[in-house]
Amino acid sequence: MEREHFGSRFAVIMAFAGSAIGLGNIWRFPYMAGEYGGAAFILIYVAASLFLSLPIFFAELVIGRRSRANCFGAMKNLAPGSHWNGLGLLCVVTPMIIVSYYSVVGGWSLDYLVRSCTFEFMRTPTDEVSGIFDSFITSSWSPLLFFGVYIALTCGIVAFGVKKGIEKFSKYSIPVLFVLIIVIAIYSVTLDGAAAGVSYLIKPDPAKITPATCVNALGQSFYSLSLGMGIVITYSSYVSKQENLLVSGLGTAVSDLIFAVLAGFAIMPAVFAAGIEPGSGPGLIFKTLPYIFSAMGESMPVVGAAVSILFFLAIFISALSSSIALVEVGVAYLIEEKGFRRKNACIAVFCFSFVLGALCSLSFGPLSGLTITGEPLFDFLDKFSSNILLTAGGFFCVTFVGWKMSRDDVRDEFTNGGSLRLNDRLFGVIYFLIKYVAPIAVAVIFISNFI
Ligand code: PFF
Repeated sequence: MEREHFGSRFAVIMAFAGSAIGLGNIWRFPYMAGEYGGAAFILIYVAASLFLSLPIFFAELVIGRRSRANCFGAMKNLAPGSHWNGLGLLCVVTPMIIVSYYSVVGGWSLDYLVRSCTFEFMRTPTDEVSGIFDSFITSSWSPLLFFGVYIALTCGIVAFGVKKGIEKFSKYSIPVLFVLIIVIAIYSVTLDGAAAGVSYLIKPDPAKITPATCVNALGQSFYSLSLGMGIVITYSSYVSKQENLLVSGLGTAVSDLIFAVLAGFAIMPAVFAAGIEPGSGPGLIFKTLPYIFSAMGESMPVVGAAVSILFFLAIFISALSSSIALVEVGVAYLIEEKGFRRKNACIAVFCFSFVLGALCSLSFGPLSGLTITGEPLFDFLDKFSSNILLTAGGFFCVTFVGWKMSRDDVRDEFTNGGSLRLNDRLFGVIYFLIKYVAPIAVAVIFISNFI
């Protein structure tokens, strides 16, 4: 069977940007920045993305495009019969777990989009609006229903294939997403009292640069670029042999960075304008923002309603483009290793994610007794996958390219077999980062989880 591949450089960057830009940028980044010192965190985040996460991104690009196979097949091709095959399996299992709980939050964003469209936040008194979130996630059916629709939509798009599904969706939705976030950011920074939020994001306070800020900024950039979970390997296996990996990788990392910073500007100035504490945890977008929309509803109902629709539409699209990538990893594995047809592979992934995700969704309410190591299932899977599985996957991928593959093979992949020019010094720096710096940095994030 002929392997599909992305049709153009724009398609490649949009698909990768879609996988990277997600809840991590809109949901996680602003509250991490809020908790760890605003501008100081952002500066370290940018440096960590370019010097540590980007080399790991390159390493995964090399594995995927060299092998032209799903994650498991990639390891089988590049290191036949070795322990590295375990890494291939890890990279298939991790996204299957992640997509299950990630889609629960995706379902919340869909629910909040519907609520925005029915003007619920405008109609609810300001002091009651954040309570909507608690009563929604602790109920049984509603979050389950929205989660089910969300994951069905994700698998439905993947079922159309790499070109007609993933590429088409990314090519249209990611530019729309940028327009949405720019419009919201412009609106947010022009609100009365927004200046404090803007200066919070642009004026670094050196006292806030602590080891915790560094580790968390690095962890966030790692999470945001979707490293260590097979996505980059799988998508890269659909990149044509003529494409320039350096440009695609840089284009993706820069889009992801710009989007995260824009999301910060969309959220933080509005939060400051409303007089709310910036570091208010994961509830920031589902509690704080509706509060702001509701308050706006009192004086400017039409603007409040419009901004809330745009906002939750942006969250929904960004989540969907990442879930699509997570699902594709398992689907590619089932097609290439187990002989499934694409449609059946999507149904199989849907069934698995639906069962695990439903348990996660219910772990906020009726199944709150369902705990692992004392934590609700959702929290456990989130922490276990982002702190342990992702970092382990990223560490072994970058170590594989730095220590198992030959330098010549890596260079060959960057230069497309010698047909692209690549400055020796630049390659030397990238290779050094892959071989020494990135593995040490990931090992530090990994160890910091235990202290
Ligand atoms: N990079 C995407 C995001 O930031 O939302 C996708 C993703 C990354 C999902 C890591 C889940 C995850 F653990």
